[in-house]
Amino acid sequence: MEPKIIQFPRGFYWGAATSSHQIEGGLHNDWTEWEQSAPRLAFLANKGLKSADFISGLGGNSWEHLEDDIACLKMINSTAYRFSLEWSRIEPEEGTFDHVALQKYRDFIIRLQVEGIEPFVTIWHWSLPLWVRDKGGWTNREIIKYFTRYSEKVAEALPEVKFWLTINEPNIYAGKSYLQGDFPPQRHNIFSYLTVTRHLIAAHRASYQAIKKLRPYVQVGIVTNNIDFDSAGGPVNNLLASFANRWWNEYILNRIIDCQDMIGLNFYFHNRINYGFNKNENQKVSDMGWELYPQSIKPVLLKLRKYNKPIYITESGLADEKDSNREWYIKGILQAVSEAIAEGADVRGYFYWSLLDNFEWAEGFGKKFGLFSVNHQTYERTARASAAVYASIAKTNGFTA
Ligand code: FCB
Repeated sequence: MEPKIIQFPRGFYWGAATSSHQIEGGLHNDWTEWEQSAPRLAFLANKGLKSADFISGLGGNSWEHLEDDIACLKMINSTAYRFSLEWSRIEPEEGTFDHVALQKYRDFIIRLQVEGIEPFVTIWHWSLPLWVRDKGGWTNREIIKYFTRYSEKVAEALPEVKFWLTINEPNIYAGKSYLQGDFPPQRHNIFSYLTVTRHLIAAHRASYQAIKKLRPYVQVGIVTNNIDFDSAGGPVNNLLASFANRWWNEYILNRIIDCQDMIGLNFYFHNRINYGFNKNENQKVSDMGWELYPQSIKPVLLKLRKYNKPIYITESGLADEKDSNREWYIKGILQAVSEAIAEGADVRGYFYWSLLDNFEWAEGFGKKFGLFSVNHQTYERTARASAAVYASIAKTNGFTA
């Protein structure tokens, strides 16, 4: 086969993504309490699992190793970095803001910019201050007010940020926390799920308006997890696919699109529909058991064209401890992204998930998504072989397939 040159548009952002609870360490929020709660520990013990692997603790200790993370970003020639602010650090008590923590985030943001790395800052990536949890978290309508005040505060305190992402994957969060019961507070209640979804939408809208009022020139968007619902054909499968697409991929976006300067897309899943969901062939899967089917990102991107907004791929990646699938998978994704761009999708950046191995929520530390591994005694970061591949793609703004 002829070698094919894949080249991205000039100024395309190359980066990696993380989130506060997954890497910062030393936190005290709804997750840290849940991780150590008696029912959770009993659940792990029952499965014969070591609880230490499921307690975030010092994590990657990034809060004390910010310069090391910058060094990793530079090694892969990043021009952007997506990370999140930790609400429980910034507002540990209701209405009391920690100015030292805010200043530390600000210094970090400025350091990134000095290194030519543009920060894409997520305001909320799933972990809640205890006082918010105690008031009912996202089931309480008041959270819209709390979240907006917190958004205003950070927009005010961090004037250098040009790209704000309000909420990470509201669809996954609402589902995992209130329907499937995998994440705290582990509910299985469709009514709470719908209420939480409504509040997440309203919170994004209010936060968007507050930030834009304060800083009209910045770009603000949400991060959505969209899935390729891939019908096997025929009226029944087509109907199922179209319904799933409308609910999962579009319901929230349609309600916030007038409050959205850009779309953050997290892509992980292909879902083949053949008289039922998830009829995937699974010829290759990641360490999460998720099918590795990179071409699926193309239809997902093409469907987002109708919103007429710049798209940033705010997460895409895989758990692959042996690093045996990362290179072909990243290249497969990027090839599909470049095809989508050629067909009119306005994609402006790609953030690999994740920069570092980290705390993969209910799955704990066992799932290794990082371009860099982390030593939990010394916190030293070590590049996997695929980090060099990614560095070369970022440097040359493309690759030869
Ligand atoms: C996404 C989350 C991110 C990470 C990846 C694997 O849904 O946003 O924090 O856990 O999955």
